[in-house]
This record gives sequence, structure tokens and C-alpha cells, in this order.
Amino acid sequence: MEIKTAEFVISNTDVKKCPEGQLPEYAFIGRSNVGKSSLINMLTNRNKLAMTSSTPGKTQLINHYIVNNNWYLVDLPGYGYAKMGKSGKEKLKTIIEDYILLRENLTAVFVLIDCRLRPQQIDLEFMEWLGESEIPFSIVFTKSDKLSAKQLKENTDAYKNRLLEDWEELPPVFITSSDKREGRDELLDYIEEINKSI
Ligand code: GTP
Ligand code: MG
Repeated sequence: MEIKTAEFVISNTDVKKCPEGQLPEYAFIGRSNVGKSSLINMLTNRNKLAMTSSTPGKTQLINHYIVNNNWYLVDLPGYGYAKMGKSGKEKLKTIIEDYILLRENLTAVFVLIDCRLRPQQIDLEFMEWLGESEIPFSIVFTKSDKLSAKQLKENTDAYKNRLLEDWEELPPVFITSSDKREGRDELLDYIEEINKSI
């Protein structure tokens, strides 16, 4: 899919204030610092569309971006940033959960996973919650440039095997690097297919 335009629309903490209408919407979620905002910039070819930072906890709002004037990309706050404190983390959790459960035009959720890490409880629990809530999702491994091809395969295979302990089948899996622009075509093709089908 060709990206002709990508524009910021609105930021907020309240799902009821998100843009009205029925355009398909794709949300990126994952631990703080996993690379959600960077991925949005990579997909849209816009360096500074979503704000990124090497300090975790940068994105604290639900951010809507409209692409080609006919679908939304959504950058969500990261979960599980330890330094945020318990009440801060709870607040973000509520924002994320309300958004996911109540946003009617939410078309697909992408759970981002840092390919360098072993499966983390917080991510596995989040996916379990999505399953219980009957929200289908895909997995996007990020920062593939940080590993050798061999390590990358080992880590992602191990991750898939861990998932198969909890799930009967694997969700769609994408491997990406925002630095190397890897996985861009695959993700955009996937989104395009869904857009065409609705
Ligand atoms: P929060 O908004 O805090 O939840 O973080 P985020 O998930 O939006 O992460 P962000 O995109 O801000 O990236 C966090 C850090 O990881 C930044 O320093 C990025 O430059 C770096 N980063 C993101 N994607 C990649 C990647 O594909 N490769 C490499 N090497 N670094 C990346
Ligand atoms: Mg961010």
C-alpha cells in the first residue's frame, strides 16, 4: 500500500472523545519503550509524526493518526513502566483497557514484543486478557536489527513455542525493525487486505 498522507488527528485519555465515524482503526500496544511510536513513524514514512524517546513512558495518551484519509493508526501508552508508580500504571491500564473494549471501529490490535527478550509475564498476561475479552490480535516483534539472524530466529521460535503452551494456534506474526525498515511491506499489506475486506 502506498502511503500518500499521514496526519495527526487528536490525543486524549478518554475513548469517548476519540474521532467519530466508522473508519477502520489499527492500534499498537506493548510495553513502554518497545518501539510503538517508532513503528508508526516507519510505516508512515514520517520521522516525527509520533513522538519517540529513549526514556520509557513517553506516550501517555491515545493518539490518533489518519492515513490516506481513510484509516487510523493509533499509538497507545505503553504498559508496565515501573517508574510510573502504582496509581500512574493503574490509570494507564484503565485508559488502554477502556479503549480496547469500547472502541467500536477498532479493527486490529498489534501487540509489540521486543525480539531480544524472553517471554515476559506482563505481555503474556496482556495477551491472555485480550483472549478472554475476545479481541483478536497480531504479534509484532520489534528491533530485529539488534539481533543476528540466528539469534532472531531462535528467540522468535522460542516465543512462538511459549505461546503455543497457552494458545491452540498462533496469531499472525510480523518481524520488524524501525531502524532498518524491515517488515513495513508485510504490515501495510496486511492492513490493506483488511481494509479491502470491510
Ligand atoms: P513509550 O511511548 O514510552 O511507551 O515507548 P514506545 O513503545 O513508543 O517506544 P519508542 O518508539 O519511543 O522507542 C523507544 C526507543 O527504542 C527509542 O530510543 C527508539 O529509537 C528505539 N527503537 C524503536 N524501534 C527501534 C528499532 O526498530 N531498532 C532500534 N535499534 N531501536 C529502536
Ligand atoms: Mg510511544
